[in-house]
Order: sequence, then C-alpha cells, then structure tokens
Amino acid sequence: MKIDLTGRTALVTGSTRGIGRAIAETLSAAGARVAVVGRDQARASAVAQAISAEARGFACDVADVASVTALIEAVEKEFGAIDILVNNAGLTRDNIIFRMKDEDWDTVLDANLRGAFVAIRAASRGMMKRRWGRIINIASVVGLVGNKGQANYAASKAGLIGLTKSVAKELASRNILANVVAPGFIETDMTAALPDEAKKTLFTQIPLERLGTPSDIANVVAFLASDASSYITGQVFVVDGGMVM
Ligand code: NAI
Repeated sequence: MKIDLTGRTALVTGSTRGIGRAIAETLSAAGARVAVVGRDQARASAVAQAISAEARGFACDVADVASVTALIEAVEKEFGAIDILVNNAGLTRDNIIFRMKDEDWDTVLDANLRGAFVAIRAASRGMMKRRWGRIINIASVVGLVGNKGQANYAASKAGLIGLTKSVAKELASRNILANVVAPGFIETDMTAALPDEAKKTLFTQIPLERLGTPSDIANVVAFLASDASSYITGQVFVVDGGMVM
C-alpha cells in the first residue's frame, strides 16, 4: 500500500536535523504539508524551504511551556489545522546517578517529556473537533530497558510511553491515534560522538549488524501518520535492527 498524506498537515518538533528532518522530508514526500520546527527561526525556515515550497519553518523551545503553546497556535493559524503531531525533539545530559545534577534531570525531562505533554494538550483540541488525528512520540529503546548513565533520559522516554498510552485511551473515541516509535542506535549527531570501538561493540548486539538510518525511523512514522494504521493505537514500535527483543 502506498502511503498517501495528501491534504494532511504535520508538525514535527526538532526537525532541522537528524531523525526529525528525515521525518519531515518523508511526510512531505508522501504529500503532507509540514511544519519544520527548530530552536532557531532562520534555520527552521531554511530547512522548510529545502524540503518543499509548501513547508514552513517555526521556532520553538520545547522545554518552555509558553513557547510550545504558542507554536501550536501559530501552526494552526498558518495551516488551518494540525492533523499529525510528531514529538521528536529530544536531548541527553548523561551522567551516573550520584553525579547527576538537578538541572541535568530537569533539562531532559522538561524538553523530552513535558514538551510532548504540552504539545499534545494543545494540538489534541483541534484534532478532537475534526475527529481525526495522529500523535507519534519518538521515545527510545532506552525507555524500555534502561541504560547506565542515562537515568534522566530513560525516565523521560519511559514517561513518553505512559503518556502515549494514556492519551491513546482518552482520545480513541475521537479517532485520534497515539503511538510511540522507539529507535535503537541511529546514525545522527546524537550518536556521531561514539568512538569507532564502541560502534564495533554495538554491532555485535544488533542482529541486523548496522546502525539504523533516520529513514528507518521516518518510514515507520509515515505509516503511523497515515490511514493505513487506522486500527493501531497505544503501541510501541521498536525500530532497532533487532537489538532489543
Ligand atoms: P539530534 O540531536 O540530531 O536532533 C534532536 C533535535 O531536537 C535537534 O534538532 C535539536 O535542536 C532538537 N531539540 C533538542 N532540544 C530542544 C528544545 N529544547 N527545543 C527545541 N528543539 C530541541 O538527535 P536525533 O538523533 O535526531 O534524535 C531525535 C529523537 O530521536 C530524539 O528524541 C532522540 O532522543 C530520539 N532517539 C535517537 C536515537 C539515536 O540513536 N540517534 C536513539 C533513540 C531515540
């Protein structure tokens, strides 16, 4: 089945690079009008322009409640509606638990988890009125299995899963579906810092023997954003080359 998002509008947070950008490109290629969101307006607009004449760039700090609320309003004003919301923006502040500072915890939880909550709260209103919506939250396998040095990040991603399942139950009767995509190791700026030795060790844990690409994630998001996924809600899609099974 061909994924066709013609006539749909999509907002993807953190979409000026990495996985978010691939998601924005893939949704746009499938026909959706896409809001590219980054912290910097000029960068977001430049990426939107590079993706499609229909796409638009917006600035937002997802760790700031007022900024996220204003973003949803601005995109609804520009596009008339948000049909597909992808909460992709995320960051890490790694440290072992007894060295983790309060601000490392807050920075990660505010951006990765509260940002998604605020966006869903604001965007679901319009989706409920129109009785169609897709909410896709990008978590991580770390949210399922934990990771040394990532207590804050793992908690934020596990929290996203609970958030998604709850809103999936709340919004199902209005034909709004909410799902999680949990990537494994994907080649982006986030993982570029890994030393080659660490990457080699990683491959031994990945049955498909390679890191994932942003497109590997974007293709699953496009499916979940489409009518092809109309009987799926509250689920976690692990996209990790078989690492966690
Ligand atoms: P990345 O670091 O290349 O991109 C993250 C994007 O989020 C950037 O555009 C960044 O500016 C944006 N962002 C971060 N904090 C923000 C804030 N406060 N306000 C607005 N934007 C903010 O990372 P990548 O790899 O593309 O990650 C995308 C998502 O996928 C993240 O949620 C990440 O946790 C998740 N993920 C990535 C994995 C990987 O191996 N790369 C594995 C599992 C999950």
